[in-house]
Amino acid sequence: MHFIRFLKVPTTTSKPSSNIITISTLITISTDLSEAFYNGNATLRATLRADSQSRQLLASKTVNWTPGLRNIPIQFTFTASKDTASDGIVCISATENRADDMRTLFAGPSESRILSAWSTPFNILQNGSKAEALVERKLQLSAGKMVRIWEETREDIARHIWPGGLAMTSYLSTLPTPPTGHLQSLTPLLQTRSINVLELGAGCGLAGIVLHTLLPSSKVTITDLPITTEITSKNLTSNSSENGDNNISYHPLDWAAPLPEWCASSTYDLILVADCTYNTASIPYLVGVLDELCRLSPGVVILLAHKVRHDSEEMFFEMVAEKGIVKKESVVFEMAGDRVDLYTMGR
Ligand SMILES: C[S@@+](CC[C@H](N)C(=O)[O-])C[C@H]1O[C@@H](n2cnc3c(N)ncnc32)[C@H](O)[C@@H]1O
Repeated sequence: MHFIRFLKVPTTTSKPSSNIITISTLITISTDLSEAFYNGNATLRATLRADSQSRQLLASKTVNWTPGLRNIPIQFTFTASKDTASDGIVCISATENRADDMRTLFAGPSESRILSAWSTPFNILQNGSKAEALVERKLQLSAGKMVRIWEETREDIARHIWPGGLAMTSYLSTLPTPPTGHLQSLTPLLQTRSINVLELGAGCGLAGIVLHTLLPSSKVTITDLPITTEITSKNLTSNSSENGDNNISYHPLDWAAPLPEWCASSTYDLILVADCTYNTASIPYLVGVLDELCRLSPGVVILLAHKVRHDSEEMFFEMVAEKGIVKKESVVFEMAGDRVDLYTMGR
């Protein structure tokens, strides 16, 4: 799985007495931890559209990514007229093997998938204006349902979407016929109206927002460390209907702190945990929270997405087993080279 990333966000250059405008950006295509660059050929389409109702195409480009590249500069030039909207959005996507449709993520280890990137709207007429340090992903869940998730462009663990969240998204969006096989104990839960769902370590809120989009009658509480408050709030706003939605909310929740009162006084049917088992230092705290939640909500199902990164992560499964929380069902999700194991767990 590869992500198109803005290494330099789109920036406007214009000269005072000229209506010729240049927009420049520098992008890369890399893996979740940006430790490897895309090592194949990819044709990328870059567009600059007006951020207005017309979405007028102001400029477009095709660029070729080839093996060995680490980044690629992209520059658009267009002639502004008095009718040109002041704000624009840059989109970069691969013409083939796009990862944006969550129903097609399941791929053989050698097949690549590339997630497209949209910039924030920015002033395309004013010299020196630039997009914010954010990138938007538009993830198609079904013919009529899409989620829009903002991530930071800077390297940061919490304010990104990760293969675990994407595999969970993909599994949920392919129900009732996931290509990976079934986690049977989820089926009755997902057919029940008004299930109460808690997401731990949600990052940008991807899995919780997806679950609520697919199952609008569910009540979903998204949690993570307070550093995610701003990005998750933005994502909740991006994905809520015009009248807002009281059934999905965000609260900070630190696994290392005692359970907050709002959480300890609720019972949950489903707990989502995506890509949170990579850090052995925080595993004891995560295990502690899950132990407490299973005590407060007997019968709760944990849906866990675990990207297999290193053997030491097995410690998580050993520690939860000591608390009586065990794997019930599993499916292996191959996402173009990323192996993510999905488990249902519980007492
Ligand atoms: C790799 S990210 C996964 C994010 C998201 N679930 C996804 O799959 O896109 C791991 C998340 O665990 C969160 N996390 C780490 N330690 C935590 C703690 N002590 N309390 C709460 N969340 C924590 C991080 O802030 C981060 O957002």
